[in-house]
Amino acid sequence: MEMESEILSESESNSKKINIIICGAPGSGKGTQSAFIIEKYNLQHVSTGELLRQEIAKGNELGKKADALISNGQLVPDDMIIHLLEKKIDKLGPNHPKNGIILDGFPRTVNQAEALENLCSTKNAKIDILIDLEVDDEELIKRILNRGKTSGRNDDNLETIRKRLDVYNKQTKPVLEFYKNLGKYVGIDGMGTMEEIFERISKAIDEIK
Ligand code: AP5
Ligand code: MG
Repeated sequence: MEMESEILSESESNSKKINIIICGAPGSGKGTQSAFIIEKYNLQHVSTGELLRQEIAKGNELGKKADALISNGQLVPDDMIIHLLEKKIDKLGPNHPKNGIILDGFPRTVNQAEALENLCSTKNAKIDILIDLEVDDEELIKRILNRGKTSGRNDDNLETIRKRLDVYNKQTKPVLEFYKNLGKYVGIDGMGTMEEIFERISKAIDEIK
């Protein structure tokens, strides 16, 4: 009997994991804060922006299509990104050694949020919290232009940043409402030093643990 209680089934172990969505406008610090979070909470980082940049580097058809949209500040189609995410989650497998996953930059549309909720239910997993990094537009632009000096990202220029902000307001803001309705939304003041912001995020995560 003891053996049985010690060995968790896949569904039981999934339900004990912490799964986090980190959301916020371009330049709000999703990537930066994800790096701190995965270290402290031993989570797996999954950034859809990074997944797309890997496809672009491969130079395949999908990468070319994504590159054209990204450099123009537009989102890639929902079916493309949902497929890429599912592939990544399946590759990690249910028994990956981390305590859970942090999704950075996904979901970005209500369609994607619904697909994610479906994916979670098929895997008997759940999203515990959506962290929304709130940063003023002026600061976002300053941060991205600064990063653009060295990032090599062809969406780190003023013209594309303005389009990305517009797309964020129109297509991604409704995702925040979606998670507010599920009672999983936590807004975090994303202004200040990286350490101050991480402290605020840690408090929010510790409250759900
Ligand atoms: P993605 O890669 O997700 O880019 P993004 O959302 O535009 O965000 P960024 O990566 O630019 O910013 P960040 O919030 O990670 O900030 P960071 O920590 O780097 O997506 C790129 C594109 O891919 C999208 O536009 C879209 O086309 C496509 N895409 C991706 N996911 C998609 C999806 N789900 N559906 C459809 N399309 C999708 O910080 C920014 C800078 O500020 C850094 O230099 C950092 O060092 C600095 N910084 C961070 N914190 C601070 C601080 N507190 N003080 C001062 N500087 C700071
Ligand atoms: Mg990022």
